[in-house]
Amino acid sequence: MRPVILDVDPGVDDALAILMAVHSPEMELIGLTTVSGNVPLDQTTENALKVLELAGRTDVPVCMGAAKPLVRQPHYTYEVHGPEGLGAADLPDPETMPAGDAIDFLIENIEARLGEVIVVATGPLTNLALAEARCPGILSHARRLVIMGGVLHEPGNISPHTEFNFHADPHAARLVVNSGANIALVPLEAARQLWLEQDLLLQRLAGREDALALFCAAATQTVMAFETQRYGRKGMHLHDPLAVGLSIFPELCKVQPLWIDVEPDGELTAGQLVVDRRPFVIDGHLVGNQVECAVKVDVPGFLEVFLDRLLK
Ligand code: RIB
Ligand code: CA
Repeated sequence: MRPVILDVDPGVDDALAILMAVHSPEMELIGLTTVSGNVPLDQTTENALKVLELAGRTDVPVCMGAAKPLVRQPHYTYEVHGPEGLGAADLPDPETMPAGDAIDFLIENIEARLGEVIVVATGPLTNLALAEARCPGILSHARRLVIMGGVLHEPGNISPHTEFNFHADPHAARLVVNSGANIALVPLEAARQLWLEQDLLLQRLAGREDALALFCAAATQTVMAFETQRYGRKGMHLHDPLAVGLSIFPELCKVQPLWIDVEPDGELTAGQLVVDRRPFVIDGHLVGNQVECAVKVDVPGFLEVFLDRLLK
């Protein structure tokens, strides 16, 4: 079992990633840390509590993090994730409460198990950046950071050249990428390989009336409507579940080393990944920081594991 912290901004795909994680015996889920992202912090936190209660996992603590990015103003995506961040799902108000401060939680748990903890970050990186600022070097003491964020060369999803998590807090993304931590990056190029057909999900949900199945059907409605309109296919991308999947089954993704940095301030490019691929410069002198970047996903293999774990 690997000790894992999920740093999340639920958000529908975050919720699916949390459900996949809690149904994965390979993972010792030591806690969730929430951040402002798709919806405000109070809502991402409430959503995390609700999803854990749905899964019967109130043993997993939820710690609240940053209510806004380091420098920029928040940018919410209600049009994708719905007015309360979980699509059309209507889960009961949580009975559990947040367990404390996310930055303290990250620092204390990484320090308590040096080199062991995997942090899977599927929202803006504000919490991780604040932990590094408060305790320099802490991120390097994690076993690995698996980060869903950035876009290398394809069109962005929130602006021409940026992906939402890095766009929402580019200063945090830059600080984390430059922290020297062991980073596995899941950019849009990888996440976009992973398309969940609406028909496939409905097929797997057919005949089920349990709360989990009803949640998955309702929660995915809004995102699927948005992505169907944007991409012309009935379904949705599984950005955040891919990051969880990569933390448990690294063999599901081919990775390659890249040297990257993040533009923090450009009017049109804040949050853009800058990749140094200059063939005439040797590795040691490339600009940026080396990360392992997911480039090729075993889509059938991942979808099978994802659906099996999601709908356990
Ligand atoms: O760009 C996709 C990412 O931004 C996903 O993590 C989604 O939940 C949003 O946070
Ligand atoms: Ca997310």
